Amino acid sequence: MRKKNQKFIGVFDSGFGGLNILREIVKELPQYNYMYYGDSARAPYGSRSKELIYQFTKEAVEFMFSKNCELVILACNTASSDALRKIQQEYLIQNHLNKRVLGVLIPSAEEAVVKTKNKKVGVIATEGTVASEAFVREIHKLNSDIKIFQKGCPLLVPIVEYGESNTKISQMALEKYLQPLIQKKIDTLILGCTHYGVFEKQIKKIVGKKVAIISGEKIIPKKVKQYLEKHSNLEKKLVREGIIHFYSSDLTERFAQMGSDFFGRKIEVEKK
Ligand code: DGL
Repeated sequence: MRKKNQKFIGVFDSGFGGLNILREIVKELPQYNYMYYGDSARAPYGSRSKELIYQFTKEAVEFMFSKNCELVILACNTASSDALRKIQQEYLIQNHLNKRVLGVLIPSAEEAVVKTKNKKVGVIATEGTVASEAFVREIHKLNSDIKIFQKGCPLLVPIVEYGESNTKISQMALEKYLQPLIQKKIDTLILGCTHYGVFEKQIKKIVGKKVAIISGEKIIPKKVKQYLEKHSNLEKKLVREGIIHFYSSDLTERFAQMGSDFFGRKIEVEKK
């Protein structure tokens, strides 16, 4: 059993998709201890109601705090869109004033604002993320002149999870989803979902080289580093043993297999 003062960085996702974000954070900051939790028993979150996404995310955060996480990063775009604000503005204030929960939307929004020249930005994401309009809000906070074209892509997560990325099936689905955005002449595209990074090459071919593609795992690690530099009181509490614990709410062969693929090496997963 760990001592109470040994604090971890937590990374949460609805399933295994967030493991690619954890992989990149660990590359950038290998010294810390991490805990990953995937709520695979209740994934996918993408087509669920805002209320349920908040409830599930809050339960996940509670679990991670109980395991000594001092900072939890919501790697899940759907949870970041639908639950983060309420968690920060109500749940943390009422229950855990000293702990922190961060999401993944703002870094992508900031990057899009820097990248776009013609002020036309596309967002592909789950239906939940699109309906929340969270990307629209965050981009408009930075520049209200930017036009944002969103497309919900409900087929893409199952395509990845059933091993159909980089096949004719994924090609057809991507073409269908991206065509309307290409017609709007976007010059920047946010991949607003943990799973979409695996389509990057295919997407590049469809939208063309001139469209800048923004994918969370490339941006988040630097932002986490900057955050810890700024918040030295929190940083000082973190244990530095380079250990990672992986948890899931359901132990399935798919989670172990896809999780290892997303993380880039074999992982041992414990049940919550
Ligand atoms: N992790 C989710 C996201 O980034 C995708 C999978 C799901 O729908 O749960 O939006």
